[in-house]
Amino acid sequence: MNTDNIRSLFPILNQQVYGKPLVYFDNAATTQKPQAVIDELCRYYTTLNSNIHRGAHYLAAQATEKYEETRIAVQSFVNARHSHEIIFTRGTTESINLVAASFGQAFLHEGDEVVISAMEHHSNIVPWQLACQRHGATLRTIPFNDQGVLDIEALPGLLNEHTRIVAVNHVSNTLGTINPIADIVTIAHSRNIPVLVDGAQAISHMKVDVQALGCDFYCFSGHKMYGPMGVGVMYGREELLEKMPPYQGGGEMIKEVTFEQTTYNELPFKFEAGTPSVGDVLALKAAIDFMLQTGIDNIAAHEKELTDYATSRLLTIDGIRLFGTAPDKTSVISFLIGNAHPYDTGTLLDKLGIAVRTGHHCTQPIMDKYGIPGTVRASFAVYNTIEEVDALYAALKRIAPILL
Ligand code: ALA
Repeated sequence: MNTDNIRSLFPILNQQVYGKPLVYFDNAATTQKPQAVIDELCRYYTTLNSNIHRGAHYLAAQATEKYEETRIAVQSFVNARHSHEIIFTRGTTESINLVAASFGQAFLHEGDEVVISAMEHHSNIVPWQLACQRHGATLRTIPFNDQGVLDIEALPGLLNEHTRIVAVNHVSNTLGTINPIADIVTIAHSRNIPVLVDGAQAISHMKVDVQALGCDFYCFSGHKMYGPMGVGVMYGREELLEKMPPYQGGGEMIKEVTFEQTTYNELPFKFEAGTPSVGDVLALKAAIDFMLQTGIDNIAAHEKELTDYATSRLLTIDGIRLFGTAPDKTSVISFLIGNAHPYDTGTLLDKLGIAVRTGHHCTQPIMDKYGIPGTVRASFAVYNTIEEVDALYAALKRIAPILL
């Protein structure tokens, strides 16, 4: 894989900040977009803008066709059995809220339990807390060890006849840990408990096959996989989606409306109330095409090289403390310099042109476990280079003695 060629597809990377070449290491928050994705958005608004599924005119028909083509592209990308198992949302957060609200309404009752992991993003905690509060259920958590490895052996003991769902992330946004989803599904399914996977941090780094994983729901965002903001996906197994009530009411999700009673549209439209972000959906297809053309195995191999190299370099710097050292992890490096506040490190790196994220990363329970206020997080994508990692290393070498 030629990284120069890849970088040339991303116009935003070719700029300086504070007079220094931009080193973009905040990819777990959002990836940059290749020109093809930007062009697709532009093409939609320049030539195709119209509302889908209802217009009796050329533009509406074209936009609808392309929208549904993207659904099929996503189906194939994650190997779903049916295209109507792919629901477009605004992003992972909305996807999880949809499931927590709708699945909760259908299946959660007083005394029931929901199991999540202790390393979830707030967006896979709070929707379940809300659902539990609404239905009188209890939230339980799978612990993880100091390395950031989930204690999967604790899972069977957390499941009982009251457990209605297990919700875990595929990859931790803060620790980078890749969780053993297929094993979790096997354990949960042995007790007929469905599994939701927050795939926000996995989808750009590895081949995701929802049938091989065996999960019942898989949620992800376009903007973390080189696509636009404003579009996400909720994959759900048909059998469960059929039993779940609509999440939002509005246009498109109905079959017949009277003041007395409303009947609902078939899948996937039952869960797509209102006008979707059509241009973003179309551009998501361009992002999928980019990933497939680049090769997901190539992306993963390149990111592993960067992560291994960065880890070994950073560990040579006095005072560096790494958080998240699981053997199986993606391209996220969370660290602190001694007890220095992460924000100070992040601000100094920024002035050197290096964009990282600092803080709790919407995972306050992880910070509580380690007894820290937050971390500095460098996260890599396919367009990052060894030279950029060297720039991070050199910057931290300079910064560390100031902050220690
Ligand atoms: N969830 C995103 C992150 O981890 C914003 O940075």
